[in-house]
Amino acid sequence: MQTIISNNLAEAAQLLTDGEVVAIPTETVYGLAANALDEKAVLKIFEAKQRPFFDPLIVHIDSVASIDKYALQVPAMARLLAEKFMPGPITLLLKKQNIIPDLVTSGLDTVGLRIPAHPVAQQLLRQLPFPLAAPSANPFGYISPTTAQHVWEQLQGSIPFILDGGDCSVGVESTIVEVVENKVIVHRLGGLSIEAIQEVCGNVELQLNQSSNPSAPGKLASHYAPKKPLVIGDIKLLAEKFSHNKKGVIAFKEYQNKFQDEVMLLSANGSLHEAASNLFKALRHFDKSDCEIILAEYLPDEGLGRAINDRLRRAVA
Ligand code: TXA
Ligand code: MG
Repeated sequence: MQTIISNNLAEAAQLLTDGEVVAIPTETVYGLAANALDEKAVLKIFEAKQRPFFDPLIVHIDSVASIDKYALQVPAMARLLAEKFMPGPITLLLKKQNIIPDLVTSGLDTVGLRIPAHPVAQQLLRQLPFPLAAPSANPFGYISPTTAQHVWEQLQGSIPFILDGGDCSVGVESTIVEVVENKVIVHRLGGLSIEAIQEVCGNVELQLNQSSNPSAPGKLASHYAPKKPLVIGDIKLLAEKFSHNKKGVIAFKEYQNKFQDEVMLLSANGSLHEAASNLFKALRHFDKSDCEIILAEYLPDEGLGRAINDRLRRAVA
C-alpha cells in the first residue's frame, strides 16, 4: 500500500468516510483514526498497529455538546472537568451508549472520550458526521509519534494517508480520568497535570500501576519502549559506569559531557512543558542513532514532570 503524507484535510475526510484509517495530528501525539461507529474500519486500526483486541480505543469527538451522544449517566464532576479542560489533553472514561461498538471498548461498558485541541483535528471532527476512534499512531508497545515523519517511519506501507499537522505541542498522551462516586480517579498520567485537576476537583486518586490489568495496556509496566536499552538514574554516574559504550544522553536542562556522547537536553531553560514535547523525539532519535545505550534522568516529580517520569519508567523494557 502506498502511504501519502499531506495536509489535505478534504482528502483525509474522504478516506475516513470511506472506512479507511488515517493518521491525524492532535496536540498530544499523532493518532491512527477511523470511524468509531464502523467496526470494519476500526478493525483496520488494530491490524495496522498490531494491537491486541483487549486494548480499548479512545473516541475523539468534536465538542462538549457531543458527550451525551456517546455517554450515559455523566457524573456532575465529569461535566465540570469537561467544561474546564476540553478541548485539551484529557480523556474522560464514561459509561458508553450502545452506539459505540464493543470492539472500540474491548467489551468494557465504559468509553474514553476526548476532544483534541489541535486545530486540524478539530476542523476534521467538525466536518465529519461520526466520531473518530484513535490510538496513538505507533506499532503496539513502541514510542508514540509526535510528528508526521515519526508516523511515516513506523507505519508507511500499512496505512493510506498521514494528515500532516506539524509537531505536536504537548508531546505526551492525554491524562485519562474517571469519576467514581464523586471522586476523580487518574488512570494514566499525561498532558494535563494532576495539579490542574486538583485545583478544580480537590484530591484525586491515582490508579496507575495495575500492570497485570489487561483492560488498560497504557498502564502496562513496559510500553512506549525504544528497542535499545534505556537506563534511568544519575546520568553522571551512569556515564562513568558505561564509559566504554557509545551513549545517547537525555538530560533535563544541563549536562557536563565528560565523554564524547551525543546529548539531548529536553529543555535548556527548565520548562516541563517543553521537556514533554521533546521526550519522544529524543527517545526516537537515539533509538535510530548509532549509540549502544540510552541514558536518561528523572525530572522533578511535579506537573508534566510526573507524566514524563511515568513514560521513562515504562520505556525501560
Ligand atoms: O493523547 C491521547 O490520548 C492519544 C491521542 C491520539 O488522542 N491517544 C492515545 O491512545 O494515547 P492509546 O490507545 O495509545 O492509549 C489509550 C489508553 C489505552 O492504554 C487504553 O487501555 C486506555 O487508554 N483506555 C481507552 N479506553 C478505555 C476504557 N474504556 N477503559 C480503560 N482504559 C481505556
Ligand atoms: Mg499508545
